[in-house]
Amino acid sequence: MCGIIGYIGTREAAPILLEGLHRMEYRGYDSSGLAIINGDGLHLAKLPGRIVELDKLVSSAPPAGTIGIAHTRWATHGRPTEANAHPHTCCKGRVAVVHNGIIENATPLRQNLIERGHTFRSETDTEVLAHLIEEQLTDNLSEAVRAALRHVEGTYGLAVVSLDHPDDIVAARMGSPLLVGLGNEDLFVASDAAAIVGHTRKVIYLDDGNMVELSRDGYRVSDLKNTHVDKAVDEIAWDLKKIEKGGYPHYMLKEIFEQPEAIINSLRGRLVTSEGTAMLGGLEVIDESLAEFNRIVLTACGTSWHAALVGEHYLEEATRLPVEVEYASEFRYRNPVIDERTLLFAISQSGETADTLAALKEGKRRGAKAMGIVNVVGSMIPRESDGGIYIHAGPEIGVASTKAFTCQLTALMLLTLYIGRRKHLSVERGRELARALEELPDLVQQVLERSSEIQQIATQYADAVNFLYLGRGLNFPVALEGALKLKEISYIHAEGYPAAEMKHGPIALIDENMPCVAIATRDSVYPKVLSNLEEVHARQGRILAVVTEGDNDVARIAEHIIEVPEIDVMLTPILNVVPLQLLAYHIAVLRGCDVDKPRNLAKAVTVE
Ligand code: G6P
Repeated sequence: MCGIIGYIGTREAAPILLEGLHRMEYRGYDSSGLAIINGDGLHLAKLPGRIVELDKLVSSAPPAGTIGIAHTRWATHGRPTEANAHPHTCCKGRVAVVHNGIIENATPLRQNLIERGHTFRSETDTEVLAHLIEEQLTDNLSEAVRAALRHVEGTYGLAVVSLDHPDDIVAARMGSPLLVGLGNEDLFVASDAAAIVGHTRKVIYLDDGNMVELSRDGYRVSDLKNTHVDKAVDEIAWDLKKIEKGGYPHYMLKEIFEQPEAIINSLRGRLVTSEGTAMLGGLEVIDESLAEFNRIVLTACGTSWHAALVGEHYLEEATRLPVEVEYASEFRYRNPVIDERTLLFAISQSGETADTLAALKEGKRRGAKAMGIVNVVGSMIPRESDGGIYIHAGPEIGVASTKAFTCQLTALMLLTLYIGRRKHLSVERGRELARALEELPDLVQQVLERSSEIQQIATQYADAVNFLYLGRGLNFPVALEGALKLKEISYIHAEGYPAAEMKHGPIALIDENMPCVAIATRDSVYPKVLSNLEEVHARQGRILAVVTEGDNDVARIAEHIIEVPEIDVMLTPILNVVPLQLLAYHIAVLRGCDVDKPRNLAKAVTVE
């Protein structure tokens, strides 16, 4: 949560910082601010609201200066107010700090600082950093930051400027992402490559415990003991076009429509159709120990957790090993049965979700082989994993996850082919699944062509107050994901339920005002789902069903149907979720909601 950026170079800092904030707005968007240093002093501008408000504030009197830091916030400690917006400054206003993460011992630190005479202006945990640095300030800013951080417990990606060192930015990382961008005549530090890719594609990914000093002469990476750290320079593999809307009204719609291409990228060079398997270099580390694993654990949050639920079906079928899906946030507070015979996969779009990262580490600590299934290259989870798979969905900006979900399922199917063929999956079945994967992008494209039809249907449901989503088997997680998409972006209450469980409670809710979205494509449980829908119909519930092309049975009782092409049953979740993404999108637009930046949410939740 929260995005930070720092700039030092030859150009005006303010427009570069503001542009960077806009590109990271998905990380948090309840308040924002910047600090610029020039010959006249340290200039601060911050306020609650979206980043456009900061644009307006700054444009009235743009602070000149070629060095500065900025922040976009998702509130944890303290409401989104001007006082709580970053940057935070010390008593004398000479040190400014932007911070992403949580200082866990902020309360005692604050108390001690107040006792030592410091005056606090905000309710945030971050402000203690500014005062701690102020106390340590001598002739070296990085030493002061290093000394301050020795008192701090918790997580941070932070950047600091000081009037006493007007040509330095010091940044540090512990548990929150941070990278350094190397331009021609300038240097950047940011939470996310998106913030700086318009200026440079050369980056250094910092690790936990790293600090970096950026000056007019260059940069130096060190650790908290001031030992020099050698870092490789990486190249960002995508460009600005990938993170612009490209003519779409919203990132979410763009990303829904990118799914065929994203799936092609997930599959690229990996399918070995003739053998019914996949080539996945990141899994070679488990090749030799594969026979020793006696269970698989999938752990994740949010949409990625729904992907894990589908993965459970895939992997159990193909490996005949018990597979468990765990909410990452719950996993580490239980006493899970994990040992060296456990193969654990942490699934995460961002690779930064604090709970998922902690679950991965906990699994590792207990002896499991800990792997990642991640989208963002170079993020924390891949760095902490023993191996894994990048899903290659490309940058996902819309807060509601769409293409990452379908690419996670694609990657889980590749994983299934890889492990399955070494376990229980026959070559014939492997080939069928590989061929189905090859067809998948075209079939997703066919579903996307129904967008305007779904938009029409959405007009009939946009005023509903509640929704029930029903599915069974492999498509129960799709019901959960469809309901999550709707509630995230339209604020309509929606619940996903296994269709047969409906009669054990939710059926009491059914009346002529309750839309039921049913996933009723043809598979082994199709007749059962049909019976469940008859029960809804008998109670005047409104049915909107996703069905296989040519289906007449559901059409008889449904108010609306959306047809999807036929595909191997195992891949139906990937096709079936697409109309539900579009339905949620069109309903949210009809209700005038801010689709890309829904209230209270953030894309990467880097706090517990
Ligand atoms: C947040 C996002 C969700 C996402 C979840 C897990 O809640 O709003 O869209 O599914 O985090 O994120 P991850 O990056 O780990 O997949």
